[in-house]
Amino acid sequence: MLTSLIESASKSPNGNNIQATRYLIIEDPALKELLLPIAFNQQQVVEASTLIVMLGDYHAFNEDNIMKIHEEEFQAGYFDEALRDFLVNAAINYYATKSKEDLKLELTRDVSLAAMSLILLANETGFETITMSGYDSTQLKKALNISERYLDVMLIAIGKGIKPGHQTVRHDVNKVIYKDKI
Ligand SMILES: Cc1cc2nc3c(=O)[nH]c(=O)nc-3n(C[C@H](O)[C@H](O)[C@H](O)COP(=O)(O)O)c2cc1C
Repeated sequence: MLTSLIESASKSPNGNNIQATRYLIIEDPALKELLLPIAFNQQQVVEASTLIVMLGDYHAFNEDNIMKIHEEEFQAGYFDEALRDFLVNAAINYYATKSKEDLKLELTRDVSLAAMSLILLANETGFETITMSGYDSTQLKKALNISERYLDVMLIAIGKGIKPGHQTVRHDVNKVIYKDKI
C-alpha cells in the first residue's frame, strides 16, 4: 500500500522532471528507538507504523540523469527529438549556474511537493500523518548513514490514528491574500 501511495506521490510536479525525491522508509523498531531522542522524544517516531525520511538526491542534477529521463520520454513517443534536446539543454543550463544553496532550495521545493501529495494520499486512504522537521538533521543522517549526496527535507510519520489530535486554527483567509502588490 505504501509503495502504491509513493508511486502516486511521485507524479507530483518537479523541476525539469529530474525526479530527485527519495523516500527512506523506517519500520525497524530498533531504528525507531534510535531516532526517538534525535527527534526530541516525539512519541510518533516509535508509535507510528512507518516513518518516512523525505530526501532530495543531489545526483539528480547530473547530466546523465537529465538525459536519461528525457530520452525515456522520447522513446515512449511523448515528443520528438527536437523537444527532447531542447528540454535536456534547458535543464542542464538551468542548473549549471546554480550555487549549492540554490540547489538545496530546488530539492526542498520538489521534495516538499511530493511530501504534501503523499500526506494527502495517505489521509485519503485512512491514515493519519505527522509532518516533522523537529529532529536534529546531523544526528539523523549519522544514525541512518545518509551521505552528503542527500538532503533531508522532513520526516513523515504515518499510521492508524489512536486518538484525535487537538484542533487548530488558521488565519482568516483575507489576512493572507494580497492582490497585485504586497
Ligand atoms: C515543515 C513542518 C514541520 C513540522 N514539524 C513537526 C514536528 O516536528 N512535530 C509535530 O508534532 N508536528 C510538526 N508539524 C506539524 C505542525 O505543527 C502542524 O501542521 C501545525 O501545528 C498545524 O496543525 P494541523 O496541521 O494539525 O492543522 C510540522 C509541520 C510542518 C509543515
